[in-house]
Amino acid sequence: MTPINETAPWQALSQLAHTGRVQSIASLFDADADRVATFSREAAGLFLDGSKNRISVAALDQLFALAEAAGLPEAIKAMVNGDKINVTEDRAVLHVALRDFAHRTYHVDGEPVSPAINAVRQRMADFCTAIHRGTHTGYTGKPLTTVVNIGIGGSDLGPLMVTEALRPYWLGERTSHFVSNVDGQHLTDTLAQLDPETTLFIVASKTFTTQETMTNARSARAWFLEKAGGDEQAVARHFAALSTNERAVTDFGIAAENMFGFWDWVGGRYSLWSAIGLSIALQVGFDRFEALLKGAHAMDEHFRSAPLQENMPVLLALIGIWNRNFEGCSAHAVLPYDQHLHRFAAYLQQADMESNGKAVTQSGAPVAWATGPVVFGEPGTNGQHAFYQLIHQGTDTIACDFIAAVNSHTPLGDHHEKLLANFLAQPKALMLGKDEARVRDDLADQGVPENEIDRLAAHRTFPGNRPTNSILMDRLSPETLGALIALYEHKIFCQGVIWQINSFDQWGVELGKVLASEILPALKAEVTDVTHDPSTAHLLARINQLRDGQENNNED
Ligand code: F6P
Repeated sequence: MTPINETAPWQALSQLAHTGRVQSIASLFDADADRVATFSREAAGLFLDGSKNRISVAALDQLFALAEAAGLPEAIKAMVNGDKINVTEDRAVLHVALRDFAHRTYHVDGEPVSPAINAVRQRMADFCTAIHRGTHTGYTGKPLTTVVNIGIGGSDLGPLMVTEALRPYWLGERTSHFVSNVDGQHLTDTLAQLDPETTLFIVASKTFTTQETMTNARSARAWFLEKAGGDEQAVARHFAALSTNERAVTDFGIAAENMFGFWDWVGGRYSLWSAIGLSIALQVGFDRFEALLKGAHAMDEHFRSAPLQENMPVLLALIGIWNRNFEGCSAHAVLPYDQHLHRFAAYLQQADMESNGKAVTQSGAPVAWATGPVVFGEPGTNGQHAFYQLIHQGTDTIACDFIAAVNSHTPLGDHHEKLLANFLAQPKALMLGKDEARVRDDLADQGVPENEIDRLAAHRTFPGNRPTNSILMDRLSPETLGALIALYEHKIFCQGVIWQINSFDQWGVELGKVLASEILPALKAEVTDVTHDPSTAHLLARINQLRDGQENNNED
């Protein structure tokens, strides 16, 4: 495969970036009355406006040519065909099959996967009904009104983000908690709020071996057993498992009827659509969980059928490629102007950075181009009073996505108008900036003396030309949220294809896990012959010296 930076479109883009650099985004609007139409796409209830990026139409044309040169249309087909595109783990990548409502037949290794998907989905629906109607009760006969999802990474971030985002759809009287951190304070603080008689623990782990999750699950089980007077039978009513590893689930002591399976072709960070979504379904109802899947499906249908030039995820990906590779943006801010999306950036950090934080191509050669950016964000308007300073006036150019719903679920006075005014104002400010002449005029109008103007003008100048996308939806609903998540999943996929990396493995998280397990015995006062670098050895000795004597009941 030709390295992407040796293809003609990449070289044309480099040329455009270096010699034909556009002076300002504002000048692009002056030159092209149709710019908003050229850089906008509408699909699955979402509207994307990418016009406030410093990209000329000529560059956009080359970006589409780049997508062709990278084989993007073929790559999309390979993904939905169930080809083993996750080459380093020899796995297919078929999260789209989990949310198929078009009765397509998806295969892995020649076997259709839809029957198994539908069977698990039906069992999830039945389980939700049993919990909601109170036919599945706790060990004292009380309804199970509280769910604790114990998981980490994709087994936590997706369900947590969606559950928070769909707060207006919560079924009354139900609460959900998400415990992820191996820091015992996370579980302890959660348990302190729980009534064991009404709590259902869901142990969510694709592998069912993840240290954090298994440690939390064992501690939760011990807490529950103690509260239930040591009644092992009670565990069966209060613990469910979401996993691909049936044997480990059984060994843990969770009954087969309380296990909801999925498959190795569902990546952890793409798993909220699978059984991992059970905590979502319990909190908002199975019909709304299905509506979430349908929203994602609508985006999938658009993604697989729309030509590259009309394709929303493709456009979002290409704008990102331009900003990352040709404008030098090493960070990407995701800024939802919606409080219920307060975990969206955290969710996207895993989706994007675990997928595209790679430095070798699929064939193992070092990449000679930048890949995934640092993703971060907070809901607007909070971020405006925290890190936007750097976005407006810092030395780095940060690409930003602004996301908003036109209508609020809870209109309150003029709150939503103010929120939307900020959603519109920030990209406008980032694009236009404020030049020194205008700063000087404004200060002079305010009667500021000349010497003060000289002193302050540079500080109050905004360079502008900072790239932004705006994503708009009618209302944050299960459907639009599903479409939004799918939009980003496909964007990440397209970028991985262009960067020629494998977006579906995550070897980079392994080394730390191995070293932590090597260090652990030394913290449990066990004899170990593992040697450490001087800094680690020093810190370890210092920790052991300062530690209070602690009982340790966990096994690993
Ligand atoms: O941290 C790496 C990772 O493997 C993620 O990709 C995954 O989402 C997370 O750990 C949790 O894994 P599991 O669901 O197997 O517990």
